[in-house]
Amino acid sequence: MSGKDAQAGNALWGGRFASGPGAIMEEINASIDVDKRLADQDIAGSLAHVAMLAATGIVSEADAEAITGGLHKVKAEIDAGDFPFSRALEDIHMNIESRLKDLIGEPAGRLHTARSRNDQVATDFKLWVRDALDALDAELADLQAAFVDRAAEHADTVMPGFTHLQSAQPVTFGHHCLAYVEMLARDRGRLRDARRRMNESPLGAAALAGTAFPIDREMTAAALGFDGPMHNSLDAVSARDFALEALAAAAICATHLSRFAEELVIWCSAPFGFVSLSDEYTTGSSIMPQKKNPDAAELVRAKVGRIVGDLNTLLIVMKGVPLAYSKDMQEDKPPVFDAMAALSLCVRASAGMVRDLTVKKDAMRALASKGHTTATDLADWLVREAGLPFRDAHHITGAAVKAAEGLGKEIADMNLAELKAVDPRIEASALDVLTVDRSVASRMSLGGTAPDRVREEAGRWKALLEATA
Ligand code: ARG
Repeated sequence: MSGKDAQAGNALWGGRFASGPGAIMEEINASIDVDKRLADQDIAGSLAHVAMLAATGIVSEADAEAITGGLHKVKAEIDAGDFPFSRALEDIHMNIESRLKDLIGEPAGRLHTARSRNDQVATDFKLWVRDALDALDAELADLQAAFVDRAAEHADTVMPGFTHLQSAQPVTFGHHCLAYVEMLARDRGRLRDARRRMNESPLGAAALAGTAFPIDREMTAAALGFDGPMHNSLDAVSARDFALEALAAAAICATHLSRFAEELVIWCSAPFGFVSLSDEYTTGSSIMPQKKNPDAAELVRAKVGRIVGDLNTLLIVMKGVPLAYSKDMQEDKPPVFDAMAALSLCVRASAGMVRDLTVKKDAMRALASKGHTTATDLADWLVREAGLPFRDAHHITGAAVKAAEGLGKEIADMNLAELKAVDPRIEASALDVLTVDRSVASRMSLGGTAPDRVREEAGRWKALLEATA
């Protein structure tokens, strides 16, 4: 059946129509190519609905049994890949109902009692988003676990910490890994908040006004794992903020992953050489035989673009749509499907790269002390041991850096005489604080980069992740 052939056409709503839709109408209107992905959710929603219709006496037990059996058959056909999807039937809801009618005949027509596609699609889509958020949470937990393992392994691997991408102070690679564990924890928190807030059932709102049938919305809500029914039928069919919130959380998470991806790209470059990725996560160049490109990292870095774009798309789709349902809202699914798939891939690829990467400790250490990165430690020494105000200590240390540059060396390589020439209050014990190992070890403040702290934190995270797995 297609276009005009559907004729008066559509068995599901064709009563007042003399002909089927034109070809362009069908093309712009049909959503089946996209929303066929809601098949499982649609069937779950219908099973819950029909059980409720029987329990409340709105349909007979016999009809409910026929419908339930038929829905299972439809599901089996879809799972087996031999379901006859039809564009003329617009969307997943009508495709399934129409097939149900082929399979069981007359009782199929009773399934849609006290229901509309408007509450049906809102329910299906919520179930889908909820599953996607759960899957994402597990993937993010795995990525955190990957970072935590590397953090424990590299609790005392020194590397330069950067601000403005200028060498700032030495940190440990483990500490750097744990920064991402924290970000990802907040990402998971945002996704879980979204899930908690969205977990109310639209089913039973019907088209927009509720229904005159004595339905039991608590029953369908419970059957579908919702905390309860939504309390306003207009809101129930109109709301898509659950999808927006999921996309917003996804966009923030993707932004975090893009920062890690960018760091990987930098770290893999020859001038840095901090890490290398194996053949599994790199590609070669067709012209330059020596090349090993971190394509996976670059793609993670890039995919944030489409995920933020997806959020933007749905924000703009929803802007200004009057209550209650309008067909605009059919455009809600492509951006959500796209963003969730892209983010899932980014999370999995990131976890793969975290586990895959080889840390080049020597290269990290060599750069960790370049650029006078322990200058702050000298200033701190002047405050602690010589009793100077920090501002004065900062000034003296600046002069020491200038002197080091004049001598063509790093501040950490100056001898006592050279330092005393800058300020006579500098003593031999100041030389000790200028090494990168002493520098990181001294940063024992809560949340600091000291290896002991990093080991503690890695342990805390490992236990936390195991306890919540
Ligand atoms: N395919 C539609 C969507 O995804 C289902 C709801 C249609 N409702 C309607 N009143 N035409 O939004």
